[in-house]
Amino acid sequence: MKVIKVERKVGRYPLNNRSVLLIDSGLGLLSVAKAIHMVYPDIRLFAIADQKGFPWGPRSADDLISRCIYLAKKGLKETKAEAVVLACNTASTVAINPLRDVLSVPVVGVIPAIKPAAHMTKTGCIGLLATEGTIKRTYIDRLIEEFAADCCVIKVGSSNLATLAEDKIQGRDLDYEAIAKNLRPFEDEKVDIVALGCTHYPLISGELEALAEREIQFLDTGPAVARQLARKLAEIEPEIDENKKESCLYYTGKGYDIQPDILHSFGFKKTSFLN
Ligand code: DGL
Repeated sequence: MKVIKVERKVGRYPLNNRSVLLIDSGLGLLSVAKAIHMVYPDIRLFAIADQKGFPWGPRSADDLISRCIYLAKKGLKETKAEAVVLACNTASTVAINPLRDVLSVPVVGVIPAIKPAAHMTKTGCIGLLATEGTIKRTYIDRLIEEFAADCCVIKVGSSNLATLAEDKIQGRDLDYEAIAKNLRPFEDEKVDIVALGCTHYPLISGELEALAEREIQFLDTGPAVARQLARKLAEIEPEIDENKKESCLYYTGKGYDIQPDILHSFGFKKTSFLN
């Protein structure tokens, strides 16, 4: 089947050949990259997976803020990207405004889909599955208060799901029992919708759905982030950059074991160590 690509116009300026830098503790950013790449395949994707600093879940707010600022500045210098997506819920709960204060490009964050979950639930009971760090933040309490005050909200902080998602992307054996354990608290209640509050989790959403003992719908925020990024890029005049680099997934640690076809399916042409 021949697919004809017709460029979408979402604002004043075109989106082809624009560029973005995604930042996360690891491979979770791939779920956001995929949502962008699916509808805007001509946006050049750059990303930094902070493999050396993984996981970010247990890190303090100050630590996350300084790490994100450091990585964003370094990544923008290297790639000349026109926007930043902080493709991490844990970091977005604390670092989004500090990043906006120091960067001159638009910064898009990720917010767990509490509001849509509260609209969609039929049982009146929704779930939030996120890192232990995200679950504790007052930002999340405010979100629940504002958008889901009428619902019963079951919050589950996971210490291992991000690692399990990274196992899957790297073709390692998946521990299904370990994934399923994270779902138990939802099954004891009448939860029918769960907001995925960590960008790693959409990478294993098929497994989460199949392993849940009752029907639960898991909500991913990747498509909403892609829409928001497109709107932001379409508002700003394209940068004239003669040396346009090709899409690249940078890592800060010893590297990932990702098959080339898998890497390409997320919109990246290559990987590279970020010194
Ligand atoms: N992907 C991240 C998030 O969205 C963080 C996972 C971790 O490093 O703990 O929260």
